[in-house]
Amino acid sequence: MTAKIIDGKAFAAQIREKVAAHVARLKSDHDMVPGLAVVLVGEDPASQVYVRNKGKQTVEAGMAGFEHKLDAATSEEDILRLVDRLNADPKVHGILVQLPLPDHVDSSKVINRINPAKDVDGFHISNVGLLGTGQKSMVPCTPLGCLMMLRDHHGSLSGLNAVVLGRSNIVGKPMAQLLLADNCTVTIAHSRTKDLARICRGADILVVAVGRPEMVQGDWVKPGATVIDVGMNRIQHPDNPDKTKLVGDVDFAAAAQVAGAITPVPGGVGPMTIACLLANTVTACCRAHG
Ligand code: GUN
Repeated sequence: MTAKIIDGKAFAAQIREKVAAHVARLKSDHDMVPGLAVVLVGEDPASQVYVRNKGKQTVEAGMAGFEHKLDAATSEEDILRLVDRLNADPKVHGILVQLPLPDHVDSSKVINRINPAKDVDGFHISNVGLLGTGQKSMVPCTPLGCLMMLRDHHGSLSGLNAVVLGRSNIVGKPMAQLLLADNCTVTIAHSRTKDLARICRGADILVVAVGRPEMVQGDWVKPGATVIDVGMNRIQHPDNPDKTKLVGDVDFAAAAQVAGAITPVPGGVGPMTIACLLANTVTACCRAHG
């Protein structure tokens, strides 16, 4: 079997088009411009790339983008003060503080200072609680993007066995909550799980977010399963030691021989995350204006 490739790049482009159309209507009918503030502390190269892409796509969608780049040595107090200012700014409907923050900053404290209604990442403890209890919340962008691709491919997810490999607050845990809310039978597996391969082989839906290059082997995948690879790992290029190559957490070539559908890296989950961020910002803007 050769798997269907789930094209996250094309799907994300469709979402961005819908977002841009919604933004245009908000502007013409209500004189409203959704605004997204992104806070980047320090010079982590991967974070800089993400923030640049977010800023570019925000503007392309017709929204207002506010970038705050702070020195790596900025104190926690100053970051909290900036969050307070953004919370109070009526032009800002969404606030994203890029993670990871430097070690001297308490990330939870900063995230929980964001007004939950502006928390477009869905990381605030109130949004985490709302999601976990099935109430209306801001939903974290990466798991939301994965869910959209799964719903698009399967239609209903009801009754399917889903295995989420990885238990992070950003992806693994909210992903499991979303799949549970869609009536999947959900297993969360992680680095201490016994017989990981066997657990994964039981999955109709396998979502992998562990940050380990090509960890999931072809024989970990149930024939016909849908594999969503959240991993983004830069490794040395196998054919040229001077170059790097972006790979996921799944051995794509091997898994694609077995799976029914699979997301590639790059071009799978990655583009969906930013598209969902833009969509969350429009949602926050609409909710702010009743
Ligand atoms: N760092 C890596 N992924 C994310 C994300 O989705 N949101 C934020 N704020 N930081 C991240």
